[in-house]
Amino acid sequence: MDGNGRWAKKRGLPRIKGHEQGAETVREITTFCANHPEIKVLTLYAFSTENWKRPKPEVEFLTRLLERYLKNELPVYMKEGVRFETIGDLKPFGEKLKKRINETKEATKNNKKLIQVLALNYGGRDEIVRAANKACQRGVELKESNFDDFLDVPGLGDVDILVRTGGEMRLSNFLLWRSAYAELFFTNTLWPDFSPKEMEEIIYEFYKRERRFGGI
Ligand code: IPE
Ligand code: MG
Repeated sequence: MDGNGRWAKKRGLPRIKGHEQGAETVREITTFCANHPEIKVLTLYAFSTENWKRPKPEVEFLTRLLERYLKNELPVYMKEGVRFETIGDLKPFGEKLKKRINETKEATKNNKKLIQVLALNYGGRDEIVRAANKACQRGVELKESNFDDFLDVPGLGDVDILVRTGGEMRLSNFLLWRSAYAELFFTNTLWPDFSPKEMEEIIYEFYKRERRFGGI
């Protein structure tokens, strides 16, 4: 979800207004995915392990926005059948936010239409290192086939479609293990302007691509 800051700047607004508008887009895209018959998991990169480098007021705003979002969103999760999950290391976040996160997971755990995963203090390398350490501590030899058991939410499966908004063409440490065979889509659209219509176009394009997974 890239481009919130630029969206706001273009309108002469403070960056935080871009994040607020971005949260609206999260709701729209989540609702779209929940009602799409083939989308089972939507993972959104909300806060990276590198985002702590941002000015403190912006970091604080983002964590408060998340708290507010989760509070307002519960009825939507329940109505749309969305189970809420997170990946990333939650330790550095405040107790209030962690409590809200856990309550939301608990309240939505039986919802079946979509798993919405927020990546919070998430880094793909960090997830891999933590997975390897977990396996080590349990005395399990890691294999490609059991690696998933040690990722932050086991069983989410491989990524089919990876979309980056905002014009940059890089992964920025997102879902490194699960994206091994993901189809990549890059769009110049800034996240607050991203829409279900554009998502639909991406899905259409995805089905036209031939996926060989290394075969011929
Ligand atoms: C959103 O976009 C990313 C988040 C951390 C939520 P940015 O804040 O990176 O926006 P730009 O790249 O400055 O436009
Ligand atoms: Mg950015």
